[in-house]
Amino acid sequence: MTSQAPAEPIALPATTLAPRRHVLDLDDFSRTEIDIVLDTALAMREVLDRDIKKVPSLRGKVILTLFLEPSTRTRVSFEQAGKMLSADVINIAGSGSSAEKGESLLNTTLTLQAMHADLIVVRHPQAGAPYFMARHLSRTGIINAGDGRHAHPTQALLDLMTMRRHLGSLDGKKVVIVGDLLHSRVARSNVFGLAAMGARVVISGPPTLIPLDLSRTSHSQGSLGGAAYEPDLDAAMDDADVVMALRLQTERQTAGMLPSVREYTRRWQVTEARMGRAKPSALVMHPGPVNEGIELSSSLAHGVASVIEEQVTNGVAIRMAILYQLLTGGELQTA
Ligand code: NCD
Repeated sequence: MTSQAPAEPIALPATTLAPRRHVLDLDDFSRTEIDIVLDTALAMREVLDRDIKKVPSLRGKVILTLFLEPSTRTRVSFEQAGKMLSADVINIAGSGSSAEKGESLLNTTLTLQAMHADLIVVRHPQAGAPYFMARHLSRTGIINAGDGRHAHPTQALLDLMTMRRHLGSLDGKKVVIVGDLLHSRVARSNVFGLAAMGARVVISGPPTLIPLDLSRTSHSQGSLGGAAYEPDLDAAMDDADVVMALRLQTERQTAGMLPSVREYTRRWQVTEARMGRAKPSALVMHPGPVNEGIELSSSLAHGVASVIEEQVTNGVAIRMAILYQLLTGGELQTA
């Protein structure tokens, strides 16, 4: 029999998040707290690079994932993150669960708590569903993995991590977010996170796919308050440090929202020619899944400026960091 060497400790930052049971959006995260998550995630990334990708930190913890909308990256990365930290991760899909028999979200939530789950990671088509669940839970924590078009905090955190790794401090950096802002929970959470980190956000896209308050005036105090709107993508790209394209969310759009895909592509696709107006070192980002050749040209998606695959890797590290911080209070538990 071979004896296994104990897992190397993780070099975690000495600071912890304020006591927190849920992560619902980034609007209640301070810059310090975001930095703590990003620093924890950097330490977690090191575990990902190991030959044996497992540490015992969350042994004995139970994490349930409840995804009532499709997902590849988010669901798999939460599962992978939990398993690498030695938690027991149980995945519940919409089809095959009692949600299909018409069980209410409240009863599903209470049932999962009664099973002594420590955390529920939830993706739900209705905005606000994770908040509703959190309000009814006395012991179990909730992580919002995307609720309707409202929020997707862990995606924004992995985006911030990716930007910070390449650009250092985000203070004063110009981040252009282009596309279907109206339906994008990713953009909404990013606007909060980027504002907390001191970045300048410019959004671009067809007025029909921009929240109304923002398409009427720039610098509005609306739901994307703090961001400026520039409908002309070429002008928006000037001196950008980051260009983040968003997926056209056709499943959430109603008739008349989009001129035509051809027109959209002509005016708002992120292309090499347009990237010429950004800083030479500018990053190309996309939360995925990408409609290649629509919101982003294929050559850029796979080109040297693209950090799209790194976003996915950082996504595992961020989810490890969030699971770890919520379930241990950030206390150093390395053995
Ligand atoms: C995003 C989502 O589901 O909100 N994807 C993701 O989590 N990586 C963006 C999208 O679906 O376009």
